[in-house]
Amino acid sequence: MVKLKQYTPEEIKLHNTKLDAWVIINNNVYNITPIIDNHNQGILSTLGKDATETFNLFHGNSLKIKIKLGKYLIGKVANSHTSSIFFTKLICCFTRNHKLV
Ligand code: HEM
Repeated sequence: MVKLKQYTPEEIKLHNTKLDAWVIINNNVYNITPIIDNHNQGILSTLGKDATETFNLFHGNSLKIKIKLGKYLIGKVANSHTSSIFFTKLICCFTRNHKLV
């Protein structure tokens, strides 16, 4: 398994602008700078922070979006252990349905 780079919450917090936008979702760190313009201004308040709740609220039911999100993964929160569980669940879900929803 590929070992993801680890980032501390302090470091993640620094990437909180439209041009340098990181978020934490399920202890994974994503650089979502390329998709900021696809979104409304509301997303800006989540930058540099844990955006799991906001993400689940708007995209929680879409496996297609969750898979697209994988493209922006850059690492995980230092000393966290749940991200691999999240991905295992995602893959199980994908293989169970045999299609993207
Ligand atoms: C930090 C929280 C969020 C993250 C990480 C996120 C992530 C994403 C990703 C990865 C995509 C697919 C982009 C692509 O490949 O084109 C997407 C699409 C989209 N997002 Fe979000 N999102 C977030 C919050 C929101 C919120 C708050 C809203 C609603 C106001 C929203 C509305 C949408 C819409 C309408 C699309 C297009 C859907 C589609 O192409 O079918 N997102 N988002």
